Amino acid sequence: MRASAPALWVSAAAFAAGIALAGTATASRAQPPLRGVADPTQARADYILKCQGCHRPEGGGDARTTPPMRGSVAKFLSVPGGREYLGRVPGVATTDLDDARLASLLNWTLYRFDMGNLPDDFRAYTADEVGRLRRAPLRTEASRVRAELITRMPNGESPGK
Ligand code: HEC
Repeated sequence: MRASAPALWVSAAAFAAGIALAGTATASRAQPPLRGVADPTQARADYILKCQGCHRPEGGGDARTTPPMRGSVAKFLSVPGGREYLGRVPGVATTDLDDARLASLLNWTLYRFDMGNLPDDFRAYTADEVGRLRRAPLRTEASRVRAELITRMPNGESPGK
């Protein structure tokens, strides 16, 4: 039971993400597809392999080490410097994916976990922009930069403090 729990967890998350994306695909007959996500299946697989260990399948994070992204990550796009932060945060900037796949993954992450807080004028990240941002990765200062950005958010702070 104990040993099989993580595998179950992963497949449940993959299943849930599949449903979310299937829903989007259906809606996309009327609306544009996920802008800036070249291949949602690839993006989901990349998330599972490269991000979910820390951010957890549902983006809920881990109380001790990793702040939640679900319901809050897109709020960074509404404060000056936040867009840059999302491309320079260490987990994003230093992952071993090429710029195009990383841009897709970052856009997918925003849609998947925080569609509700995406600004109306959201421009999807491009490979060029992500490539430029990740060349200046944040290091130990990431949490300070993050905390500072949160103080600029309209409601003072995100749930993922
Ligand atoms: C080793 C654990 C770890 C991995 C792996 C990781 N992250 Fe993170 N991530 C964090 C932590 C911790 C933060 C908070 C900022 C900081 O201190 O680095 C964060 C912050 C973020 C943020 C900014 C949102 C916020 O609330 O600060 C985004 C977006 C993000 N990660 C996306 C990703 C993506 C996409 C991947 C996979 C390519 C990834 N992360 C991989 C630990 C990780």
